[in-house]
Amino acid sequence: MKVAVLKGGTSSERDVSLNSGAQVEAALARRGHAVTPFDFDRQTANALVAGGFDCVFIALHGPLGEDGTVQGLCELLGLPYTGCGVLSSALCIDKAMSNRVLEQAGLAIPAYQEHEAREGITGDLPARLVEGLGLPLVIKPTRQGSTVGLTIARSEEEVADGLVLAGRYDDRVLVQRFVTGVEITVGILATPELLVLPTLEIVSENPVYDYDAKYTAGKSHHIIPARIPEPARQAAAAAAELAFRTLRCEGMARVDLIVDDAGTPWVLEVNTVPGLTALSLLPDAARAAGIEFDELCDRLVRHARLRVIGGGEGG
Ligand SMILES: Nc1ncnc2c1ncn2[C@@H]1O[C@H](COP(=O)(O)OP(=O)(O)O)[C@@H](O)[C@H]1O
Ligand SMILES: [Mg+2]
Repeated sequence: MKVAVLKGGTSSERDVSLNSGAQVEAALARRGHAVTPFDFDRQTANALVAGGFDCVFIALHGPLGEDGTVQGLCELLGLPYTGCGVLSSALCIDKAMSNRVLEQAGLAIPAYQEHEAREGITGDLPARLVEGLGLPLVIKPTRQGSTVGLTIARSEEEVADGLVLAGRYDDRVLVQRFVTGVEITVGILATPELLVLPTLEIVSENPVYDYDAKYTAGKSHHIIPARIPEPARQAAAAAAELAFRTLRCEGMARVDLIVDDAGTPWVLEVNTVPGLTALSLLPDAARAAGIEFDELCDRLVRHARLRVIGGGEGG
């Protein structure tokens, strides 16, 4: 197949995406596909129109890539593309909207409030947030990834600082109760048969599983399966699958969760273009399930070709 791999782009996860894209290119080439890489910008749209591609592999993370916009472009051009569609991509990038939908489905979501950054931090806002949600609080931009702009606040002052920091990355900020427990992530493939990958426990050398811990070799460790009791593992896998189905995900997604002492799987977020670098979580979980990276990438492009676009003829 003639495959366009979209990577880079303008989000704060640009570097990660360049890395994901490079891995995907190599994998698809090894599988005999003709690969054309694009560092995505507006000109890429013209190249996609003219290029005669069989499929677009979207390896873009974050806004203007993972959020439904590029998926919409591919729909308009009638080009098959990998992974989630427009609606699920747009929902999942928005942690407040996806939380609402997931709560409605009965999933455990840590209590949260949303704050409009442009309204500023007026009067007793930090005090009210602490009163409503308790301490510590997690403060994060509503639409970002890779722990960019995230604070764990242990005092009202830190809440105020956290709101300012997150507000630099998004005009909407999510303030959420801090959950103590084992951090895990559950990858799901649906190409189209749904396969819940083994639970993966994340052990970070840094206090928070932050950008540095995520992307520096040796600063975080993956343990498969997660070291939690079997019933909790099953509950986490079931929660991840319900999240995937509820948000209408397709192809692949990765659900981040924290499992507390009672075994409750608290859902943090759903990533629709999870990292695909050598250090990344979903490829590792797939490998543990016997699906090597090349096979994973190949399945995603084959699924893209099978899928009907926009209710029409498709590929
Ligand atoms: N409510 C929470 N309680 C405890 N830790 C959290 C919470 N929300 C986020 N974190 C920590 O911050 C990291 C990043 O948060 P997440 O919601 O997954 O956003 P993203 O990965 O898109 O930046 C998580 O992996 C976790 O370590
Ligand atoms: Mg995450």
